[in-house]
Amino acid sequence: MSKEKVTVLGLSCSPRKGGNTELLLDGALQGASEAGATVEKVVVSELDINPCHACEACFDTGVCIQPDDMQVLYPKLLNREAIIIAAPIFFMNLAAQAKALIDRLQCLWAKKFILKEHAVEESVREYRRGLWLSAAGSDKPEVFDYALPTVRAFFDLLEIKDWRCLTYRDIDEKGKVLNVPGGLESAVEMGTWLAHGERSGTHERDDF
Ligand SMILES: Cc1cc2nc3c(=O)[nH]c(=O)nc-3n(C[C@H](O)[C@H](O)[C@H](O)COP(=O)(O)O)c2cc1C
Repeated sequence: MSKEKVTVLGLSCSPRKGGNTELLLDGALQGASEAGATVEKVVVSELDINPCHACEACFDTGVCIQPDDMQVLYPKLLNREAIIIAAPIFFMNLAAQAKALIDRLQCLWAKKFILKEHAVEESVREYRRGLWLSAAGSDKPEVFDYALPTVRAFFDLLEIKDWRCLTYRDIDEKGKVLNVPGGLESAVEMGTWLAHGERSGTHERDDF
C-alpha cells in the first residue's frame, strides 16, 4: 500500500447507546486499530442531521446548503478510506438516523449524475472499502433484504465498490449480540480486513 495507515470512519446510527450495532462497530474499530489503521467513531444519533429538503440547490453545485452537522460529516465521508455504517433494522429498513444521513448524499448523487464529476479524490478512491453492520429482532432470513438496496446506494455514492456486510438476526435485547458465538470476533476480523486489504487498483468507474 502506498500509505502507511488506512483511515477508518465508523458511523454509529442506532439511538440505543451501547446497543448491538454499536458493540459490533466498537469491535470492528478495535480490529482496524489493532491492524494499524487510524480510526474515528462518530455517534450519528447524537448529531443534528435534517432530512433532505429536496431544494435542488445541489443540482448546480454538488454541495448541500443545509447548515447542520452533515457539513462536518461530508469531508469525513469523502476523505476517509474505509467507512463503516452501523445501523439496525427499524420497520424493515435502516433506522431513520442512518436513512437521513444517506438521503443527504443527494448532493453526491447530483455530482455524479448531473455534474458528471467524482466526489472522491483519486488518491482516496485507490483504496476504498466499506462495511455495513446490522442487527434485527426478527429471525426471518430475509429481514435485511429490504435495507440492502439502500446500503448499496450509500456505498455507490461514496465510490466504494469493495464492501461487506455483517448482519445478525434474532437479536433484539440490548447487548444480545455478545451472546452470539463468534459474533464480536467476526466484527473484529472485518475491521482487520478494512485496514489490511490489498489495493486492487481497479476502481475505475464505468458509469460516467
Ligand atoms: C422503532 C424500532 C423498529 C424496529 N423494527 C424492526 C423490524 O422491522 N424488524 C426487526 O427484525 N427488528 C426491528 N426492531 C428491532 C431492532 O432491529 C433490534 O432491537 C436491534 O437489535 C437494535 O439494534 P441496536 O441495539 O443497535 O439499536 C425495531 C426496533 C425499534 C426500536
